[in-house]
Amino acid sequence: MSENLTAAVSRELLERAAKLDAADELAPLRARFTLPEGVYLDGNSLGALPAHVPARVADVVGRQWGELLIRSWSESAWWTAPERIGDRIAPLVGAAPGQIVVGDSTSVNVFKAVVGAVRLHDDPARTDVLVDAATFPTDGYLAASAARLTGRRLIPVRAAELPAALGPSTAAVLINHVDFRTGRLHDMAALTAAAHEAGAVAVWDLCHSAGALPVALDDCGVDFAVGCTYKYLNGGPGAPAFLHVAQRHQGFFDSPLPGWTSHGDPFAMTEEYTAAEGVTRGRVGTPDILSMLALEAALEVWDGVRPDSVRAKSLALTDLFLDCVAEYVPGGLDGPDSRVRSMTPYAHGERGSQIALRCAEAPAVMAGLIARGVVGDLRRPDVLRFGFTPLYTRFADAERAAAVLAEVLGEVPAA
Ligand SMILES: Cc1ncc(COP(=O)(O)O)c(C=O)c1O
Repeated sequence: MSENLTAAVSRELLERAAKLDAADELAPLRARFTLPEGVYLDGNSLGALPAHVPARVADVVGRQWGELLIRSWSESAWWTAPERIGDRIAPLVGAAPGQIVVGDSTSVNVFKAVVGAVRLHDDPARTDVLVDAATFPTDGYLAASAARLTGRRLIPVRAAELPAALGPSTAAVLINHVDFRTGRLHDMAALTAAAHEAGAVAVWDLCHSAGALPVALDDCGVDFAVGCTYKYLNGGPGAPAFLHVAQRHQGFFDSPLPGWTSHGDPFAMTEEYTAAEGVTRGRVGTPDILSMLALEAALEVWDGVRPDSVRAKSLALTDLFLDCVAEYVPGGLDGPDSRVRSMTPYAHGERGSQIALRCAEAPAVMAGLIARGVVGDLRRPDVLRFGFTPLYTRFADAERAAAVLAEVLGEVPAA
């Protein structure tokens, strides 16, 4: 491309970004976050800090803990926080109230959900647990342990092959809504329906979709789901995860971790275990109040936000980024001479809220990006991941990130 043409193309893309920012109904939300200088595209690993959270945490520590002490379990409603915050997350994942409990890590909740799913019917003919072969590793590890504990076989299957792999021997299937590596969005409605048709129980991992795009747990008839809150829900480092148990299964949910706070009458301190009613039986031990209440405060930024607007912005952001990468990067995107290739599908219906680019020099390129203030992340050996969090990412950020990527690629020698 001639220099004039290149300048015209980048002017056009800059103008497109400016127009999109000017028309963005979510733009005012950015001011509610504390953000560093530069471009932060790693909210798919750790979401930004909502600016009001430190004062709220200071109150929890200084007053609720420091002054009220033990009284806070009731007077500051600490005890009921796991269900209360679950109900706050519920509309963001398309679930009616009373089906989500907050606590523990995603890993622990994967274990509860998969064991719970197998125990739901406890049919000895259903010998297999299927797991997405490209899953985030912890899901695979925990599903393997859950399968061992319940006397089942764990069978890793690629998501595209799941419908064909489901059958009369399938007890449960564990699927990621959005693949953590590629950003591919899986069809929750179709895969859940396929699992049910085979008589199996569907467990979904929402880590990369909760807060990133509309999720329709109830409409899809999902049985169990888990998700984290420190990515697109901005709950903070190590914020507690959530467990969803569909209303219709709650009376039959047999948790493998029946701790005392999931007891029907925990303060009776009885020798026998009687599970609590409802989703409370997904609890285990004492809730991690400090991080839980930081999360509760963080969720306020979602008040009045329509999931459809979040999705529309996410797709427009990722479209713009892909177009800018294609134009700016020497050799373009996905061409015969390209140094970067999109692992994320172009089809909107198959795209989460991140773009993953395969690049042979990914470690040096990500280091170069970060040194210039564009923070994405590296998935070894050769994946550059860029998360687009619609609440605080600007279209100008997407354009800038692609421009800096082109600069860095110009400096890092091809492998
Ligand atoms: C898809 C997915 N599942 C599970 C996890 C693990 O979550 P945790 O560390 O809360 O157990 C992650 C973490 O990034 C993830 O991306």
